[in-house]
This record gives sequence, structure tokens and C-alpha cells, in this order.
Amino acid sequence: MDQLSQVREKIDIVSLISEFIPLKKFGRNFSTVCPFHKEKSPSFVVSPERQIWHCFGCNRGGDCFSFLMQYENIEFPEALRMLAKRAGVELKRFKYDDGIASQKEKIYTINRQALEFYHYVLTKHPVGVKALSYLLEERKINDAVLKTFMLGFAPSSGNALVNYLISKKGYAKEELVNAGLATQKGRMVVDFFAHRILFPLFDHRDNVVGFSGRVMDNSSLAKYVNTRETLVYHKGSVFFGLNIAKNEIKKDNRAIIMEGELDVISSFQTGVANVVAVKGTALTENQVSLISRFAKEVSLCFDQDNAGQEAIKRSLPILEKNGLTTTIIVIPNGKDPDESVKENPGVFKKAVKEAVGAYDFLISKALSLFDKKTAEGKKKISDELLPFIANIENEIVKEHYLKKLANELDTSFESINKQVDRIIKKISDKPIILQTKEKRLREEVLEEYLVALLLQGSDVKDVIKKVSKILSGFSLSVSSLQRIFNDLSVFLDQYEFDRQKFEKTLPTELLSSYDVCYLLPLPVFSQDKYKNEVERVANELKVLYLKNKIRQIGEKIKTKEKNQADISDEDVELKELEKEFSVLVSKLAPNQ
Ligand code: CTP
Ligand code: MN
Repeated sequence: MDQLSQVREKIDIVSLISEFIPLKKFGRNFSTVCPFHKEKSPSFVVSPERQIWHCFGCNRGGDCFSFLMQYENIEFPEALRMLAKRAGVELKRFKYDDGIASQKEKIYTINRQALEFYHYVLTKHPVGVKALSYLLEERKINDAVLKTFMLGFAPSSGNALVNYLISKKGYAKEELVNAGLATQKGRMVVDFFAHRILFPLFDHRDNVVGFSGRVMDNSSLAKYVNTRETLVYHKGSVFFGLNIAKNEIKKDNRAIIMEGELDVISSFQTGVANVVAVKGTALTENQVSLISRFAKEVSLCFDQDNAGQEAIKRSLPILEKNGLTTTIIVIPNGKDPDESVKENPGVFKKAVKEAVGAYDFLISKALSLFDKKTAEGKKKISDELLPFIANIENEIVKEHYLKKLANELDTSFESINKQVDRIIKKISDKPIILQTKEKRLREEVLEEYLVALLLQGSDVKDVIKKVSKILSGFSLSVSSLQRIFNDLSVFLDQYEFDRQKFEKTLPTELLSSYDVCYLLPLPVFSQDKYKNEVERVANELKVLYLKNKIRQIGEKIKTKEKNQADISDEDVELKELEKEFSVLVSKLAPNQ
């Protein structure tokens, strides 16, 4: 607890968050477009005074820890570790609990030791000699690069790692199995990787999440075997090499995405360092949102076989949706990057420099496949391309490609546009998942606004009395807001308005509601206008409350009348209700 507040004290939330997303000054606070949900205008607010953040669009919020946990998708201990490092606080007595967080931490630690072991076997042990010479001589990787990527070798014995980690490091069998480093075989536990060259997989924060193992000869059925899913390794959410490339990617504002580990390593070795590998084919949503944090342009450098081309088409809409500009690197003669670097680094580098726009690439591909002079060909070409072009978010860019296509096909821009409309209609006819964000009641919105006006105001003593008078007999529908309102009234009966002093009187369960009201962006008012606005809101709330009450009583009257249809006697209770009903209705009258 002690260390926690030490860390909290030393971290400035504004500078922390600015490292991930640009913040703009907004009155006492800072604001930006929310990183946690899709929006166009900023509703994400950061308060330097309270060291908190809140998004009014998706209702997420918290402190420096919760920001980092959600932004990096990590558990508390890791967030604490990162922030402590940043704050220069040494974590001594921090104990992990038995939750998911500490299980993940444990796997990172075991994986790290496995990586050291495998690297040692490759570079120092006689068992690794053959693998080492394969990498150095056949694959032309140099010593320094072997070390940068921490390549390793898993011996063929089948239990070398298990023995080492159990007898020398004291781990339990289950721990190795949980990390994906070992498998249960009958009553025995054996190494998961055997006789393979290992490429460690790191997340972008340098945790070892798993391994990818390659055979040396192409004899085995599976050329590559990856760690199976564990608590920390999920296929399709990491990039090979991002931990090493991320700074270069940021600097260039461009990430080159290749297929394989050896493509990345060769490219890195020849000086093109902003490269990562997807390991397989198409990009996933997770990968795209991860990479979009480091660069605005993505260059796909996939193999030129069918699979590679399909991967481009499947990746492009996801990249477009995430606001990334996509280009394609076309390596001459259908070579993969690794082969190209080895054959002629100059040719490779030239291809990297001359990446073409993804849409230009697709257009020329389609034009080369079909005959644009025939009606049939025109149809095939436009069927192939328009779904992609229709997806382009920027209208000017979209029009550019539509015109280009119209030109190529020697058809009118209008026809192309009509066809796009049809495609868009087809796409939007498909049922989309309903937006889950619940719509709030008008009174809830107004109540939050009212309390925000009071908390952020400066001369509220009189104003709050007026509000209490207008709303007498009613209470706010959101109980936490009602409680804050009450507490503030009581506070102002005794003291002058002092926000910090008031804050200290609040029970902790009200703090999150308080923070939301405190951060709610408000227009700037003159004191007169301010008073009018507060009264206007209070009056509107009063009308809403009245209407709600009238509706409730009206319903009570209706059920009573129904149940008593055959009784002619006067019902006292019914009479009372009707009286109350008319009193309330008269209160609704405008001059009241
Ligand atoms: N891959 C994989 N699992 C497989 C096959 C491939 O994860 N069973 C991934 C690997 O990351 C591999 C990439 O897909 O590097 C490309 O595969 P492939 O084209 O088969 O690799 P090559 O370039 O032929 O292999 P290398 O460069 O390793 O000789
Ligand atoms: Mn290759």
C-alpha cells in the first residue's frame, strides 16, 4: 500500500497518458478522442488536479494504474511494475496474489529462463553446433543478430529443458505445462519443443510469451510449430519482432509487416529495421489495433503466392477501419523478403522504398487478370475492386480511386458510383450487431449535468438553495448524485465553498460519481447566465419528476377503477389519488 501511493505520487497522469495519445488542453483539464471506443469528437478527459481520467462516451475511467491496465491490456502487477520503474520506486514487499495476474507473471519468468537455456544451448553447447552452423552459414544470420532476437535451439533429447527447470530452478511440472514449455505424456512430462530452432516470441513490452520452433531440414511434417495457447500466448495477438522494431516503427511512422520470422531477421540485418512478422497469413483485429499505436502507415510485404494475395485482401479492410494507410511492397521475381535480401539487398531496399498504395496495387492486379475491353471483364474487375474501394473512409481518397477505375474501364463516374451505392446497400442490409451502449434516461443526464454545474461553479451557496427550493419534495433518481447533492447542501450550510475540503468529506463510494461530475465538460458561463442555466435545469428536472409521478398515479387510478368496476360506493383511497393527480397536473401549468 505504501509503495503504491509512492508510485501514484510520482506519476503525473497527464504526461503518462500523453505518451500514448496526444492530449489537448481543455479548460482546467485535458481532452482527446477516446482510445477505448470509436468516436470522432473527443470525450476522453484527463484531470491534472485529481490525477484521474474519464470518458464520457464509454463511461470508462480511473487513475494511472487503470489507464495502463486497460490501454496495454495488462493486469495490475504488471502495471505497477511499469509505473514503479518509471517513478523510480523500488518494489520490495510487493507480493503477488494467486490470481490470474500472478499466474501470468510466473509464466513470463519461466519463459525467460527457458529462453536463456535455449539460447545457451544454441550458442555455447556442443548439442547446438549443427543448428548454429545452419543459422550462420545457410541462413546467413550474424552473431549479433542471433543475440538481438535471442534465437535458441531445443535439443532432441526430449527432456533437457524439463530437467533443467525442475532440478536446477525448482519449478513444478504443472508450471512448465501451464507455460506451454512441456507436455504431459502418460505419467511423464516432456519438453514441448524438440530438435527445433527456436524463435522467442515477445510482446511489445518485452515479456516472453512463447516460442516458434523451426525444423532444420525440411523433413518434418510441420516446418513451424508454435507454443499452444496459454494464459499469455494467443495466436493472432502478437507480432514477431515488435519488441525490437517498435522504436524504429515509431520513428518512421511506418510498420512493414512480413510473413515469417526469417524474413524479419534478414530485413533487420540488412538495415531495414521497422519490420515485424504476422507468422502465417492475414492480420487480425487485435494485431491491427496494436500496430496502429506505433505507426499510421502499414506496408504489407507478403509472399506473392495465392495465400499472400488473399492475406492482403483480408487485411486491408481491417487496416482501413483502423485509420491506417496501407501500402504494398512488391519484391521482384516473386521472391520472399529473406531470399531477396540474400540475393541482392539493393533490390530489396528499393522495393521497400517504392511501396505502392494498396488500392493502386489491387487495381493493377485486377486489370492484369481480366480483359478490361469486354463487358464481362469490366464486370469482373469492378466486382473484384469496388467492395474494397467502397470501404475507404476518406471521401477524397475514395473518389480518387473511383475515378481511376472509371478511367481504366472507360466508363462514366456516375455508373461506377451507382454500382458502389448498390454494394454499400448490400453490405448495410446485413444485420449488424446492435450497439450495446445503453441510452440513458433524460433525467439521469440532466442530474449529472446539474451536479456538475454545482461542483464546477464558483459561487454556489445561493444557487444550491434555489435548486433545493425548486426540487423540494423530489429526489434525484440517481442515488449517488442525490447523496452528493445532499452532502454539498449540508457542507455549504456550514462552510464557504471549497472543493478540496468538500472532497475530503465524501465517502469513498461516492468518489467515482463525484469524479464524473467534476470532469464533465461544461460550457463557459458568465455568473448571471450560470445561475439561469442551473435554474433552467432544475426546473426541467422538476417537470420530469412531476410527469413521472403523474404517470404513476394515473396507473394506480386505472387499476383501482378496473378492480372496482362493479362497486358503486365511493372509494376514499381512489378519491385521494384523484385529488393528488389534479394537484400535480396543476403544478405542471406553466405559470406555477
Ligand atoms: N508458419 C507457421 N506455421 C506453419 C507454417 C508457417 O507459423 N506450419 C509461419 C512461420 O512464421 C513462417 C511463415 O508462416 O515463417 C511463412 O511460412 P513459409 O512461407 O512456409 O515459410 P518459408 O519462408 O518457406 O520458411 P523459411 O523462411 O523459414 O525457410
Ligand atoms: Mn522464407
